[in-house]
Amino acid sequence: MDAETMTRESLQAFADRRREGFEWELRNLVEIPTISADPGCRDHMWRCAEYARDMFFRYGYEGEILETGGQPIVYGTMGRDPHLPTVTIYNHLDVQPANEPGWLTDPFRMTIDGDVFRGRGTTDDKGPAITAFYGAIAAKEANLPVNLRFLWEMEEEVGSPSFRNAMERHRGKLATDLVVVSDTIWVTRGKPSTPAGLRGLMTFVLTLETAEHDMHSGLVGGAARNPLSELMTVVAAMMDGESGKVKIPGFYDDVEKPGDEELEHWLRSGFDVDVFKRDHGIKSLRTEDPLKLMKRIWGRPTMDVHGVVGGYSGPGIKTAVPPRAEVKMSCRLVPGMDTRRTFERIRAFVAKHFPDVVVREDHSLAPFRGHVSGPHAEAVMDAYRFAFGAPCVFTREGGSIGAVKTMEDVLGAPVYFLGLSLPSHGYHAPNENYDWEQAGGGMALFARFFEHAARIGRSPEPVSAPVTA
Ligand code: BES
Ligand code: MN
Ligand code: MN
Repeated sequence: MDAETMTRESLQAFADRRREGFEWELRNLVEIPTISADPGCRDHMWRCAEYARDMFFRYGYEGEILETGGQPIVYGTMGRDPHLPTVTIYNHLDVQPANEPGWLTDPFRMTIDGDVFRGRGTTDDKGPAITAFYGAIAAKEANLPVNLRFLWEMEEEVGSPSFRNAMERHRGKLATDLVVVSDTIWVTRGKPSTPAGLRGLMTFVLTLETAEHDMHSGLVGGAARNPLSELMTVVAAMMDGESGKVKIPGFYDDVEKPGDEELEHWLRSGFDVDVFKRDHGIKSLRTEDPLKLMKRIWGRPTMDVHGVVGGYSGPGIKTAVPPRAEVKMSCRLVPGMDTRRTFERIRAFVAKHFPDVVVREDHSLAPFRGHVSGPHAEAVMDAYRFAFGAPCVFTREGGSIGAVKTMEDVLGAPVYFLGLSLPSHGYHAPNENYDWEQAGGGMALFARFFEHAARIGRSPEPVSAPVTA
């Protein structure tokens, strides 16, 4: 196969020929439990990184492991001609824990059921990583004049704590003309979409302690302060639980609203409220209006309560007044908002009205605004139509990928998205899966995009100047 003959048919033949190899690599990666949140998985992280690095050599390319101080990063190289454009493909090889009830098979054994690959990490994000890898092999076999790099992070699911340092430390080696991220989701099967923005995330914990130990509520109740009840009051002052509206002064001030053109794309995205409910197992929603719903998940910031710690949760009721309580919360932020500023607004609000409550910031990720015009954005659009026979629209992601803003800041290269996951694949859910339609089509998607990148050449100017230390 050479560049002139990289047709949809020849790429499908390539994918079909390589299917067994794809399944083998994916299985081997899925069966290493790379749960970044679990300190007990440390050895598995390194075993996976070594496996992935060695994979590049097995296919005739080069790979190395970059130390980060935290979990390793795998860096793969296909071609190093200084005159050619360089495209870096980002994926993550760490996964979420898989102890939710509802798994029908062992999450760390990959089962193949016809065209469906099931197991933790199949869609988020090992499957898309191997898909991009095979798309790159197709491009290399066609002798496309382009250098390809693979950046496989292993701390994405814990907020990428070591990523920025690692990028700065290895900046010289990581120089690239553009970055492609394959870790996002379409609205529905058959309707490709690519995000024009990602939400950021700001996580925090409220705590209140008012006594040394549990107390009998018959003895102290009425006089003793109850930290659980008080934190419920605090949360209710911060937000309306029913509508989701945040009551912190200034919270919405920096929100950049989606423009009319963007909303038109959203309306063409194939979003369907009933399908959304079914895909996520939702029984009832805050709105059933499709555009309002899309605005809520893609274009508006949120505040959510994720967990409450404290008091008695065993069988029956124990009438104690607890000494201490904790509420775990987060806000998803949209482009225009800043994690520090948002945290400061929340901290100041709580300090003013509830001075005994401690607010502690946990990890935060900046929101991201993507590029919707220019030759590479057009290349994304064409590659989706070529590979999947349907037009692609710009949506946004409600989720967050910490590495994205960091790569644009530190590497000074624009970031585009070639996502392949579907809502029905079940990100973070039991029975997570990926499928051959997305993988085989995905290989053609990447190969075609690389063909465009080779043609477009080296970008004349970086989007933003690289940050100097
Ligand atoms: N692939 C997701 C990001 C994503 C989520 C994209 C939803 C599109 C739609 C990523 O692996 C992820 O889960 N991110 C986490 C980061 C957090 C755990 C720090 C998120 O968004 O919660
Ligand atoms: Mn992911
Ligand atoms: Mn994830």
